[in-house]
Amino acid sequence: MCGIVGYVGKAVAPDNKVSPSHRPQEVVLEGLRRLEYRGYDSAGIALAAPGMTELASAKKAGKLTNLKNEILQNPLPEATAAIGHTRWATHGGPTDRNAHPHLADNGRLAVIHNGIIENFAELKAELVEAGVTFLSDTDTEVAAHIIARCYKGTEDLTEAMRLAVGRFRGTFTLLAVAAEDPTTVVGARHDSPLVVGLGDGENFLGSDVAAFVAYTKDAMELEQDQIVTITPTSVNVINFDGTPGKGKTYAVDWDAEAGDKGGFASYMDKEIHEQPQAIADTLRGRVDANGALQLDEVSIDESVFRAIDQIIVIACGTAAYAGQVARYAIEHWCRIPVEIELAHEFRYRDPIVNEKTLVVAISQSGETMDTLMAVRHAREQGAKVLSIVNAQGSTIPRESDAVLYTHAGPEIAVASTKAFTAQITAAYLLGMYLAQVRGNKFPDEIDSLLSALKAIPAKVQTVIERGEYVKATARSMKSADSVLFLGRHVGYPVAMEGALKLKELAYIHAEGFAAGELKHGPIALIDEGLPVFIIVPSPRSRTGLHSKVVSNIQEVRARGARTLVIAEDGDDAVRQFADEIFWIPNCPTLMQPLLAAIPLQIFAMELATTKGLDVDQPRNLAKSVTVE
Ligand code: AGP
Repeated sequence: MCGIVGYVGKAVAPDNKVSPSHRPQEVVLEGLRRLEYRGYDSAGIALAAPGMTELASAKKAGKLTNLKNEILQNPLPEATAAIGHTRWATHGGPTDRNAHPHLADNGRLAVIHNGIIENFAELKAELVEAGVTFLSDTDTEVAAHIIARCYKGTEDLTEAMRLAVGRFRGTFTLLAVAAEDPTTVVGARHDSPLVVGLGDGENFLGSDVAAFVAYTKDAMELEQDQIVTITPTSVNVINFDGTPGKGKTYAVDWDAEAGDKGGFASYMDKEIHEQPQAIADTLRGRVDANGALQLDEVSIDESVFRAIDQIIVIACGTAAYAGQVARYAIEHWCRIPVEIELAHEFRYRDPIVNEKTLVVAISQSGETMDTLMAVRHAREQGAKVLSIVNAQGSTIPRESDAVLYTHAGPEIAVASTKAFTAQITAAYLLGMYLAQVRGNKFPDEIDSLLSALKAIPAKVQTVIERGEYVKATARSMKSADSVLFLGRHVGYPVAMEGALKLKELAYIHAEGFAAGELKHGPIALIDEGLPVFIIVPSPRSRTGLHSKVVSNIQEVRARGARTLVIAEDGDDAVRQFADEIFWIPNCPTLMQPLLAAIPLQIFAMELATTKGLDVDQPRNLAKSVTVE
């Protein structure tokens, strides 16, 4: 949930002059800027340099610009090592004093933290008893004092971290820097992300690669319960038990420019426009020389895929709606029952899971704690887990038996857009892979499905280019205080995703539901002028649902609703009942969500913009929810 950055520059030169490859302060502030989407209710930095008796630091509540202004007014000294943090508050309100870093040992040690230390209260009582004075309400300050006490006893920051983490329960990524060792930063991770950036005469740490991708694309992912010590010329990994550890190096497959807005007004607008590429890239390279589909990293034998008798998709939010869309396709192609379960509900319902269950975990960040915990539960019950994830090197893929990466590139805006359409694409690839392995579909049938999918990026581009009409409609609805979304079959999860977008961006009450449910209660909500989106299946759809949904439009229109219809080009049946029509190109029934979602994304973004809201960082939200 929080953004974490660590940096060590070149060692001190023989003439004892500080000569880091880059200015630590700049590296950390640039890294925090790229991580601000992870949490932004306060930010802070701590610096170490030869000769400092105590660390230099600054921290401020509010967005990163507040910290930068603070530093402008009270400049910080040059340094050789630095750690920085953007926070999404869990323990203690978003105030200056609760911002990280937290200092201990009279300012000689600084700590930043992502996660929750669940036993902080008992540790704090122990420290207060020992005479420690606390300046904040956070669990992180407790960790800082525990690490400081271990450091005093060992004079070795790595060993101090190792001893300290043995006292903590909960989830944490911790970074620590000490005034006495200004060319070292130590990091520890348990159930929370931490990656290493490998430089030349400098090394980096980050809660994700965005922290350092502007400086190096050589990265190293850490395993669970590992401690990493970086100096300008070394990276050393140990396990919490002290045994040597080994990180897994990889090359980051996107560059710093991809992390910028590329001329768009917001990351969200940029990412909506990137969807054709994200879908195409997710499809790319998935077919081997023999025309067979292939997944990224699979340690599940084909015989296991042939033996599964149920699939459970676990995810949260938008990712769950992507899974709900995929359910229709996978059941239709593979004839396996597919359940969708919200990850945070999954393990508490005591699910029936065994070695014949395939659990599919969908997550853009690969760090959503609810989903990670559900993955662990499923594996404990003997299920095989395949994850569909966007962020390479993140925790969920590392704890899965197989992974299918969406190649959507970094999704910075909190509201998920290109990840959603890429997740559906990847889930369809999985469905086709299963149909191939289990023999439900002949290769030529899979080829035709793949061809239909490959035609989707151009159709998505067409829908995006029709966006101005959607925006004009959104602007006309600036004062709307409630909007309904109706859909059927694969349009039903799209309706719910459309409602979620409006909720999280424009802070408007919105509800998505199955159009068939209307007459069972919700129709009582219909009132004069109430905006109602209706996603209409193709008139060519063999589901027989087109006429039913057109009737639904009639029913709500007759009761005064303002009908906003998403329909396929040429569908004249909707014209007489629609106040607004957002046309989408024709496509196969199961692929319509990849097109129908686009106007809903654009609508929510434009309405939020019209209301003067921050579409990239909506209130109360964070890009990756790494606490349960
Ligand atoms: C979607 O716009 C939201 N940002 C949120 O619902 C998100 O989809 C959910 O938190 C899951 O995140 P993940 O895909 O990173 O696991």
